[in-house]
Amino acid sequence: MKFTGVHVAVAVLIAAATSTVVTSCPPSDRAALLSFKSTLTEPYLGIFNTWTGSDCCTNWYGVSCDPTDSRVNDIILRGESEDKIFTQTGRSGYMTGSLSPSLCQLDRLTSLIVADWKGISGGIPACTTALPHLRILDLIGNQLTGKLPSDIGKLEKLTVLNVADNKLSGEIPASIVNLKSLMHLDLSNNKISGGIPADLGKLSMMSRALLNRNQLTGAIPASISEIYRLADLDLSTNMISGTIPEQIGSMPVLSTLNLDSNRISGEIPASLLRNSGLNLLNLSRNLLEGHLPDVFTPMTYFSVLDLSNNRLKGAIPKSLSAAKYIGHLDLSNNRLCGKIPVGFPFDHLEASSFSNNDCLCGLPLMQVC
Ligand SMILES: *[C@@H]1O[C@H](CO)[C@@H](O)[C@H](O)[C@H]1NC(C)=O
Repeated sequence: MKFTGVHVAVAVLIAAATSTVVTSCPPSDRAALLSFKSTLTEPYLGIFNTWTGSDCCTNWYGVSCDPTDSRVNDIILRGESEDKIFTQTGRSGYMTGSLSPSLCQLDRLTSLIVADWKGISGGIPACTTALPHLRILDLIGNQLTGKLPSDIGKLEKLTVLNVADNKLSGEIPASIVNLKSLMHLDLSNNKISGGIPADLGKLSMMSRALLNRNQLTGAIPASISEIYRLADLDLSTNMISGTIPEQIGSMPVLSTLNLDSNRISGEIPASLLRNSGLNLLNLSRNLLEGHLPDVFTPMTYFSVLDLSNNRLKGAIPKSLSAAKYIGHLDLSNNRLCGKIPVGFPFDHLEASSFSNNDCLCGLPLMQVC
C-alpha cells in the first residue's frame, strides 16, 4: 500500500492525540519529589531506590498520578504494610529525616500519607495548608514536633487529619473548626495543650474525634453535641475539667465515649446512661460525684460501662438489672453503698467490679447485707 498525503495527515493527528494522553510526570513534580526524598532516609527496604528515571508516575513506590494530566495526586508511604517490599524483607518500616516543604510544590496532591515510619522528625511544613486539593493528611506514628499549622482551616476539602502518635505540641488551632469536610480527626498521643475550641461543633461532617492522651485543659464544649454524625469521641487521658454537658447524652449516633483519666467533676447526666445507642462508656478516673441516675431500661446495652475511680455515692440503681446486656461493668473505687441488685446482667460479674466502695453488700462480694 502506498502512503498518501491523507494517510500521513491522519497518522500525525493520531500521534498528536495519543501524545497528550501518555505525557509523563512533569519535570517540576519530579523535581519536587526528589527534593522531598532528599531529606528522608529509609535504610532497610530501599523504597526510594524505585524513585529513578524521568517518569515519576510509573513504578515510583508510593507515588500515583492523575491519568489525564500526569500530575502527582497521591503520596502514600506507609511503614506498616503487607506490600511485597515489606514481606520480602520481613520487617516494618523505619525512616528518619524530615518532611521537606518542597512537597508543597505538588499542588495537585489529594493524599499525603507518610505514616508509621517511627523516626521522621521535624515539623509539619506550614505550607501544607496551601495544598488546595488535599483530602487526606495522615502522618501518624512518627516523631513530629512543633505545632499544627495555625491556618489549617484553609484545607476545605480535608476529610482525614491524622497526626496521632507524634510529639506535636502547642494548642489546637482555632481555625480547625473551618475544616468543613472533616470526617476523621485523630490528634491522639501527642503533647497538645490548651483548650478544645468552644465551637468544635461546627465540624458537622465529623464521625470520629480522637484527642486522647494529650495535655488538654478546660471544659468539654457543649457544641460537640451538635455534631450529629459523631459516633466515636475520645478525650481520655488529658487534664479536662468542668462537667459533662447534658446535651452529649442526646447525640443520635454516639456509640463510644471515652472521657476517662481527666478531672471531670459534677454528676453523670442521666441522658448519657439513658442513651441506648451508647455502647462503650468509660468515665473512670475522674472526680464525678452524686448518685448513679436510675434510668436503665431493657434497651440498655453496654459492652463497657466503666465508672470506676470516682466519687459516686448512694446505691446501685435497681433498674440496672433490667438492662439487656452489660459486658464489662466497673463500679469499683467509689463511695457506693447498699445491696448489689440481682439479675441477669450481674450474674457473670466478679467482685472486682464492686470493690473498694463504702458499704456495698451482696454477691459477688463477700459482705452479706
Ligand atoms: C477505662 O479507663 C481507664 C483509665 O484510663 C482504663 O484503665 C480502663 O482500662 C478503661 N476501661 C476499659 C474497660 O477499657
